[in-house]
Amino acid sequence: MGIELGAPSWHSLVQAAYLIAGVLFILSLAGLANQRTAMAGNVAGKIGMVLALAATVGLSLLESERNTAATAGLIAAALVIGALIGTRLARRVEMTQMPEMIAILHSFVGLAAVLVGVNSYLTEETSSDTVHLVEVYLGMFIGAVTFTGSIIAYLKLSAKIRSAALVLPGRNQLNVAALVVCAALLGWFLVDPNLLALALMTAVALVLGLHLVAAIGGGDMPVVVSMLNSYSGWAAAAAGFMLSNNLLIITGALVGSSGAILSYIMCKAMNRSFVSVILGGFGTEKPPAAGDVNLGEVRETTVASLAELLAESDSIVIAPGYGMAVAKAQNQVAELTAKLRAHGKNVRFAVHPVAGRLPGHMNVLLAEARVPYDIVLEMDEIQDDLPDTDVVLVIGANDTVNPAAEDDPGSPIAGMPVLQVWKARNVIVFKRSMATGYAGVQNPLFYKSNTAMLFGDAKEQLEKLATALETTNVEFTHRRG
Ligand code: TAP
Repeated sequence: MGIELGAPSWHSLVQAAYLIAGVLFILSLAGLANQRTAMAGNVAGKIGMVLALAATVGLSLLESERNTAATAGLIAAALVIGALIGTRLARRVEMTQMPEMIAILHSFVGLAAVLVGVNSYLTEETSSDTVHLVEVYLGMFIGAVTFTGSIIAYLKLSAKIRSAALVLPGRNQLNVAALVVCAALLGWFLVDPNLLALALMTAVALVLGLHLVAAIGGGDMPVVVSMLNSYSGWAAAAAGFMLSNNLLIITGALVGSSGAILSYIMCKAMNRSFVSVILGGFGTEKPPAAGDVNLGEVRETTVASLAELLAESDSIVIAPGYGMAVAKAQNQVAELTAKLRAHGKNVRFAVHPVAGRLPGHMNVLLAEARVPYDIVLEMDEIQDDLPDTDVVLVIGANDTVNPAAEDDPGSPIAGMPVLQVWKARNVIVFKRSMATGYAGVQNPLFYKSNTAMLFGDAKEQLEKLATALETTNVEFTHRRG
């Protein structure tokens, strides 16, 4: 006799949709790990999110204890309002503002975890269920730390507050004391579940999040962004446990662990200890240098001289940085690259892992401008070739090409691996002034004898350079072939 299969219940269909969405999210992450597959990864993520949303709305309607139409109306209103705000913000946000937008979005996840925790505690009859109480407590703790930490990150990244580290006396002890208080409050909460313990812990966690991120110096912000990314994932996973929502648990764990892996990669790139990042209170012990030390004279160059230098050169490396994003000069960089390559020059890009303001910032811009992937190299891939390079064009990069990271143990960026562009035969720096980079430290590269500064907006200078290469009598030397 055959086994009779009953029709699947709506609940099992929702769980199946969650599973498919979870798989799509994993495929999305895998796709996003590589420029060539990033678009496909993005599409997989979007399909997964639509499926997840549809299934969650369906589940809410199934489980609704109220009038289904009223629940549907409330959900639709929330979706429409959220979509309108999200679309408006996404349209308005500049590429240079992406990091701060990501930071503020992390803060929403943290706040949501806190609110879900309060709701879960107040509405569920599980005051004797220790596991549930721990879920609520941890979810709210991680959420509160993520919430204020992300707000400080947002303020620092958008330059609304100074990016320098806040160095309070005994800051590590303060962090440890906050953790001890939260642990003690957990003990009280488990023995005698009460709202006061939750409220006190939340207050301490809010201050802890604020202090953890405020204590981190400008140059170390990349690690903070990825760390908060990870925290927001764990906050979402905790909310998933509280709501018994498998998809939220899976997605939160994916974001949490990928954020942790990214933090680890960032720490390696910045030569910082992963453990001290996780515990907070890492980064600079002293405030950044004032930036007024006299390092000597700088040499200026002109577009015409640069055009001649490029025409004579064989190997050219372009080191882009945050200034390329500010100037929106990626298309002009791509055009220059194409032109030089058409004349037989060996042009490659040197991308520092924390160049710009968010992981992969330069790669995204260069891909958008259709620079071939195979000439975009990571720092480790190109570092050894720099001494054999005729010209390095530093386009809006500063901290990531600063030799002080290697030479000055007292520098706030000491120990951070940097692109050793000064080892090339010639270095041309595109920037508008002698201003410091994000970490607020002077750059001795600008004063080296083989460095020349091309002051001005990078996009405008590149446009002039393109004209100079076209119209003036620049004769290209073809050493290859
Ligand atoms: P930065 O050190 O930030 O320097 C950028 C330079 O671009 C500035 O010195 C600025 O000089 C120049 N610039 C700005 N606008 C320009 C324009 N229109 N035309 C030409 N130049 C322009 O850049 P970087 O080397 O990319 O280093 C990144 C820094 O940001 C690191 O300290 C890193 O730790 C930090 N950070 C990174 C991330 C991630 S995840 N990548 C996140 C947060 C923080 P002028 O003003 O003189 O033009």
